[in-house]
Amino acid sequence: MAGYPALTDSLGLLSERAGDVTGLVYARLFAAHPELEDLFLMDTDGGVRGSMLAQAFECLMDLAEGPGTLAETVIRSERVNHDTYDVPAGMFQVFFNIIRDVTKDAASHDWSPEAEDAWALTLAEAERLSVS
Ligand code: HEM
Repeated sequence: MAGYPALTDSLGLLSERAGDVTGLVYARLFAAHPELEDLFLMDTDGGVRGSMLAQAFECLMDLAEGPGTLAETVIRSERVNHDTYDVPAGMFQVFFNIIRDVTKDAASHDWSPEAEDAWALTLAEAERLSVS
């Protein structure tokens, strides 16, 4: 993949401005899909939620910066694992979209057309890997 520094830059801005966004991401996820909250009942210390989000960030950065092989391996294998957790197909895309939205909100007026394009292309690639 070509390389989308604007995506990496926007994630840098997110961590600078918002710090740990785990709470924010899952609050949005459960607001949009309340039925998913029960899936995390066993995650009493938030460890699963934290490492899941960390993996998703790593996949996005790998898709944006290359080579993309980590994202391909992680997304494909987690898709199979998540079938056993009863996570419906299509939810990976919902999750990645929420990360984009949180990043865009944090960037506010610093969100650029380059960031918009970089995210659109990266999310399309993530979607392709999530469904195949
Ligand atoms: C809305 C979308 C998603 C939902 C509802 C979801 C749900 C879950 C649930 C319920 C678990 C805990 C399973 C268990 O231990 O019994 C889990 C674990 C995990 N998920 Fe997801 N997942 C989603 C998206 C993703 C994505 C996009 C990735 C990575 C690209 C991912 C990576 C992981 C990993 C690595 C774990 C294991 C974490 C650990 O045990 O430390 N998930 N997920």
